[in-house]
Amino acid sequence: MKLKGYLKKSFGTAMIIFFASTLVITASNPGNFEGHKFPELKYAYNALEPYIDAQTMEIHYTKHHKAYYTNFMTAAEGTDLLKTPLEQIFANISKQSATIRNNGGGFYNHNLFWENLTPTKIEIPASLKSAIEKDFGSFDAFKELFTKAAMTRFGSGWAWLSVDKNGKLFVSSTANQDNPLMDVVEERGTPVLGLDVWEHAYYLKYQNKRADYVTIFWNIIDWNVVNDRYKAAKK
Ligand SMILES: [Fe+2]
Repeated sequence: MKLKGYLKKSFGTAMIIFFASTLVITASNPGNFEGHKFPELKYAYNALEPYIDAQTMEIHYTKHHKAYYTNFMTAAEGTDLLKTPLEQIFANISKQSATIRNNGGGFYNHNLFWENLTPTKIEIPASLKSAIEKDFGSFDAFKELFTKAAMTRFGSGWAWLSVDKNGKLFVSSTANQDNPLMDVVEERGTPVLGLDVWEHAYYLKYQNKRADYVTIFWNIIDWNVVNDRYKAAKK
């Protein structure tokens, strides 16, 4: 009996230590964030041809995106921003410098953009299509709104499909490198699809014809990625 009681007590103590250590690990690693990393492209520079040419992809990724990342890391050096996920930084971006806003935004927006794209045609999952039809009336109505957002963004910026705090999808556009996660934009939410409408994204192939670039975008969207983001945002 004595041995049984001892074992029972020891097991209980071990369980308490185990759960306590789990809590400490969880609390010190919110979201398992491991620092800001420049992402790898999941396809070759020429993989999106004929829609987006290899030269545009290479310059866009190695020069523009890399510069946003490098400038953000330099500005964040020695601050807590290095240990803070971008989503959390954006929630209070109004308290940060223009350098952090522009380059942190540019870093994040392009991460999302490359993930959005695919060289292999991917059909939209039925559940996401239904959600779009429910929130916009029809898929064509959504497409029209998104195209309008991309076309009417004056100067440089982005068009977005996002999820608001009530789980509803909406279309918006932001200037420069802002995005819907930032506390400085009018329509806030979690972006699930983004289109870069800066001239650097299309000028080599499409010159001033932004409309042509917006049209080809629909051929190279990775709807599985958009759907995964949508499901995560709804949780
Ligand atoms: Fe860009």
